[in-house]
Amino acid sequence: MRFDRHLLAAACAAFVLTHAHAAPRTVGAVVRTVPSADGADLTLSSGARVHVGFVTPDVVRVRMAPTGSFGPDVSYAIGGTPPASTATVTPGDANVELRSATGTRVVIATKPDLAIAVYDGAGRRVVADDPARPMTFNPDDGAVETSMRRDDFELYYGFGEKTMPLSRHQQAMAMWNSDVPDYPAGHDPSYESIPFFIALHDGRSYGVFFNNTRRSWFDMGKTAPHRYSFGADGGELDYYVFTGGAARTPANVLRDYTALTGRGALPPLWALGYQQSRWSYKTQEQVLDVARGFRRRHIPADVIYLDIDHMDGFRVFTWNRTTFPDPTGMLARLHGDGFHAVTIVDPGIKVDDHYPIYRSGREQGVYVRNADGSELHAKVWPGICAFPDFTLPAARTWFGSLYQAPLDVGVDGFWNDMNEPGVFAPDGFDKPEISLGPQKTFPLDAHHAGDGQPGTHAQYHNVYGMQMARASFEGLRSLRPDKRPLVLTRAGFAGVQRYAAVWTGDNSPTWTHLALTIPMLTNLSVSGVPFVGADVGGFMGSPGAELHTRWLQAAALTPYFRTHSNDVSAPREPWAFGAAHERVNRATIELRYRLLPYLYTLFADNEQSGLPPMRPLWFAYPRDTRASLVDDQFLAGGDLLVAPVLHEGQTTRDVYFPQGDAWIDWWDGTRHAGGTSARVAAPLDRLPLFIRAGAVVPTAPVVQHTGELKNVPLTLVVAAGAGGGHVFQDAGDGYGYRDEASRMIAATADDHGVRLDIPANRGWQKVGAVEFTGLAAAPANVRIDGKPARDVRFDAATHRLRVPLPDEHVKRIDF
Ligand code: NOJ
Repeated sequence: MRFDRHLLAAACAAFVLTHAHAAPRTVGAVVRTVPSADGADLTLSSGARVHVGFVTPDVVRVRMAPTGSFGPDVSYAIGGTPPASTATVTPGDANVELRSATGTRVVIATKPDLAIAVYDGAGRRVVADDPARPMTFNPDDGAVETSMRRDDFELYYGFGEKTMPLSRHQQAMAMWNSDVPDYPAGHDPSYESIPFFIALHDGRSYGVFFNNTRRSWFDMGKTAPHRYSFGADGGELDYYVFTGGAARTPANVLRDYTALTGRGALPPLWALGYQQSRWSYKTQEQVLDVARGFRRRHIPADVIYLDIDHMDGFRVFTWNRTTFPDPTGMLARLHGDGFHAVTIVDPGIKVDDHYPIYRSGREQGVYVRNADGSELHAKVWPGICAFPDFTLPAARTWFGSLYQAPLDVGVDGFWNDMNEPGVFAPDGFDKPEISLGPQKTFPLDAHHAGDGQPGTHAQYHNVYGMQMARASFEGLRSLRPDKRPLVLTRAGFAGVQRYAAVWTGDNSPTWTHLALTIPMLTNLSVSGVPFVGADVGGFMGSPGAELHTRWLQAAALTPYFRTHSNDVSAPREPWAFGAAHERVNRATIELRYRLLPYLYTLFADNEQSGLPPMRPLWFAYPRDTRASLVDDQFLAGGDLLVAPVLHEGQTTRDVYFPQGDAWIDWWDGTRHAGGTSARVAAPLDRLPLFIRAGAVVPTAPVVQHTGELKNVPLTLVVAAGAGGGHVFQDAGDGYGYRDEASRMIAATADDHGVRLDIPANRGWQKVGAVEFTGLAAAPANVRIDGKPARDVRFDAATHRLRVPLPDEHVKRIDF
């Protein structure tokens, strides 16, 4: 293997050593070209076969089969049948050229070695194989690899869940889902592997998705700055290049990637509320007490979590009847109080002949098998467990049907943990609890059904967690077709967004980890996963009051907002740090609830466009070079800029305002020009937050849970300037919105007011007022559809002008 083995993380060391002596060979020259409707089929002098074709006019797919014959074209990552688009093919002796309807061109040099280059419709190079390091395969161990030329300063984002800096240029990474509690920054690999990245260079983007589920790796210019390489320890070299279309924007790349791998399932509205968790709330009284604690203190919350201790000896889908004698009653009381409940469901099923679920799985033959055909057993919380083979359709159906029991009791959502899969170290290790290490999963030669393509754990390891989430999601869909499932998963692969939200596992209560949440979550977001969050406060111990309060602020506008902690940490409810912090924490959670109509709209948008709710600055401002490495701010949607305090003791911070838009301070209306930086006030009770000039952002009054949102009037916040916005409304759950049981409110802003387009209300929140922010002074004359507006208020401290609306027929407000 030619990849520099020093670059791989310690977790991969054993693997690399076993492959150290294998000899890769180049695919060689093209000896035969057969044009096809979408591109060309190439036979190589090495015996390998390559197919290059257009999936859409701006998406090119390259497939290389070392053996000369392609396997069936099936993939867990692709959300449906991969499309194919037509190409004009010009075969030649030195070059084969393919051209799509948009003018995207692929030029394939046929000798001395195959070399593929893709150009956009304007003739600019998108990607080009590095002729110094041609595509290879290893006949001994099956490894495949390719390398592309790298421009100086080209940046790379995505790759799923990595604990690395914002741009992954000059980083080397492995894709191997790993249970890595207390992960240090820079540790690799992590829980979730998504072999997709978006490149940015000179303001233009493209994306590459390496669709290989085995252990794969990327070296993004670390070994050699003028190239990047990627490969896997087996399977086909199957990758997609997303050119980003004529505009070459990151948004186009992500739209096309998510068109292929699927978009985030729209969550139920309640799942966007504040969520409180701990390992574990140990008794039903404690659960009810925590829930009451929120209501008594008027701190909004929607969800409470039950970790592993709610079960009988950690047997999934059971209850500990001593500590939870009446789950149905407990859940009814929670619901009565406006709470939803989520329980944890691990993949390990205790091997116990008295446990009906274990017996039923065994009878139905749904468990993963060892290479010798015996049932695979490994230790997790309940002791020795068997594990459903989630790559077997019957196992998914069986597992999905088990959710009937908790649904009957009243559980609302589910949390799939330990599904890398992570297991305890085998007996004989001196510390049998989970620790870092590649051996902490199934043996690589364990057997999986692979949905008709049987294979080893080495082949299917990376999709195990995602297929578990799929079993959960599909089970819930069929058991409760009128509700949108909330499934949370720790492990995943490309396409996981179709089934689940993702959290970043067992982080630590440190300022470093707080800061890490922004590069981690924004990169997961641009990897196609919209519903992402990190445990607020850091899972692995007890944060101090200041850290926790700042963390809650930093997370308030991240998509998935949950506080969670391990079994030995101090209490972490928002009131656990004294009255002063309780006041700030309440205000932070209230801010979340005020902005829920906006956040919910972002999720609806994601289903349409693939644009993530949480965005790094470069994603929206690719031409602003100063934005490209900003890793301590993020955008919530296109219109809010969030700049949390990430350092101890700070009460001011520098904020960079991306170029091309002006930004208005949410709290005091100060206007900041794009392309500038400013030091802004950030006392403990303030999350620095800015609204894009011209944006229209819907807000709600503070409610205690999302169930109360239905009946409150919305206020549209209009940030002075030209632009606009929209608001998505529906029942907050169910699939009625797909049959037009929804409405989209549109607003267009200019320097003198706003024009509203409010379709007939079908029982959702009314638009009750418009608030203009960023106005220098109170306007003399405010009119609604030409008539003087009544009860108008201007607040000089916030520079906000509030205009109540008489009804929803209003078309225009002028000042
Ligand atoms: C590991 C998970 O990452 C954590 O969130 C959970 O609390 C524990 N397992 C116990 O279930």
